[in-house]
Amino acid sequence: MLSQLALSIKESPTLKLNETAALLRDKGEPVIHLGGGEPKSRTPIDAIISCTSLLNSGEIRYSPADGVPALKKAIIRYTEEYYGRIVKPENVLASSGAKQSIMVALHAIVDPHDEVVFPAPYWVSYPEMVKLAGGVPVPVVPSDGSFHPSFEDITLAVGAYTKAIILNSPNNPSGVVYSDEFIAQMVEFCQRKDIWLIMDDTYNRLVFDGRKPTNCYSFTEEDVDRSKLLVVNCVSKMYAMTGFRLGWAVGNRDLIRAMINIQSQQTSGPATPSQWAAVGAINGMQNSIEALRTTLENNRNVLVSRLQAIPGVKVTKPGGTFYTFPDFSAYDRSSQKLANYLLETVRVVVVPGKEFGMDGHLRVSFCGAIKDIREGLERIQWALDPNAPNELFLGSRKLVRDAV
Ligand SMILES: Cc1ncc(COP(=O)(O)O)c(C=O)c1O
Repeated sequence: MLSQLALSIKESPTLKLNETAALLRDKGEPVIHLGGGEPKSRTPIDAIISCTSLLNSGEIRYSPADGVPALKKAIIRYTEEYYGRIVKPENVLASSGAKQSIMVALHAIVDPHDEVVFPAPYWVSYPEMVKLAGGVPVPVVPSDGSFHPSFEDITLAVGAYTKAIILNSPNNPSGVVYSDEFIAQMVEFCQRKDIWLIMDDTYNRLVFDGRKPTNCYSFTEEDVDRSKLLVVNCVSKMYAMTGFRLGWAVGNRDLIRAMINIQSQQTSGPATPSQWAAVGAINGMQNSIEALRTTLENNRNVLVSRLQAIPGVKVTKPGGTFYTFPDFSAYDRSSQKLANYLLETVRVVVVPGKEFGMDGHLRVSFCGAIKDIREGLERIQWALDPNAPNELFLGSRKLVRDAV
């Protein structure tokens, strides 16, 4: 007999889709995966050198629950460079991915039935993580039909039980970058109302069109130890190191202490080879991030123009990340049905918008090869648009629309 909690938690739909795509590929199917959430670039060389030098020592031991001192030092330097804040080791926790930092933060903050507010569309894991912590997820759909919540949208959802707000900008899945004005208002509001503000900065430096990464600390003079801000980062996306599972949180020392206690009982410190890889990445040459950012910006331009060419599809140009979240409701209001149809007919993987709190949309990623983006969109257009060319090749298989 399983617990009520276990029964209430869904499998991660994005991880599940990766498995489905891999299974189909193993069977020789010409699958194009536009549902992914990881850049294709290689691990930065400084990360590999730093990690292998630990491995070569043959001394791979437990680390402190909050991370090895060299990593905490690197995170402190990163925080100073990119957020202009000098923090202490007591303000820093390294975890197994941004995911674990957010999870232990929620465990440290949420009492049964407390509410955690976040804008929709949202990263698939927030509702399930809040439930795992015993809380109640409160997603907020922007009232103007956009992907950018207003200050009023959020504050109207805040009540006596609200313990925390999570903001993720640039946003997965919409790619929207929240305005500086909105972030500044949220920082001030949370401080005044004594509500934790978790800034999920997983995609912080992956922004386009000459935009500067948002620095939430620039909107407050409050000392970190009195601040309600908890800033979460990771090497997963910006450094293309998803498999290392290394993230971190910076914030108020009392909250960080509680998070360390929880993590120490849960998993102990993150894997030490991953920690040393992160030390290399954070302290090393940063040009891989700029190279990735430029590639993504180019991919975005190609993807957006292809999406705009499909009649009836409404697309908001992403200002960052590697995701678009176009509205395909003109074809099917059920994003699940549409995603299944695209996988079955043209072997293209996309993620149903329902998983992110907005049905009718599909999340289409642009972190893969440009060739896949072009071909994937050609296939999607063939499957949906009656005016697209009648024939399509899937590998060596020829599809004829009128015959489908
Ligand atoms: C918004 C957001 N936060 C956190 C994560 C998790 O990051 P990590 O792989 O470092 O746990 C992801 C991964 O997709 C994400 O999109």
